[in-house]
Formats: sequence, structure tokens, C-alpha cells
Amino acid sequence: MYVCICNGYRESEIREVAGEGVTCAQDAYMALGNGPCCGRCLDVAQALIDATHVPQVAAHG
Ligand code: FES
Repeated sequence: MYVCICNGYRESEIREVAGEGVTCAQDAYMALGNGPCCGRCLDVAQALIDATHVPQVAAHG
């Protein structure tokens, strides 16, 4: 699924850079090559990044 239509960034790409330590949508876009254009996608991108950084509950057993 595309998060950013302007740049053609996919959800998986956003999650990937978030996993590398990026915490801000604009930084994630720069890491992928281009900063935001229209900016409409930034809220969605930021939510994905935030979700990536929420500590996961480890499954035991
Ligand atoms: S849709 Fe991402 S900057 Fe426009």
C-alpha cells in the first residue's frame, strides 16, 4: 500500500526506515530520497513510524 503518492513511498518502506531508528516522518522521507511534497501523507506516515516504535509484547511460551 502506498503511503505517499507524491513520492511513491510504500508502507513497508516507511516501516523499514522507522526500524532503522528514524522517528519523524520528514526524516523518514529524506532517508528514502525525497522530502514530503504536498504533505497530506505525513500524519499517516508518522502514525506508522510511531507504531513501529511501540514496544512489542513478547510472546512467551
Ligand atoms: S502524498 Fe506524500 S507528500 Fe504528497
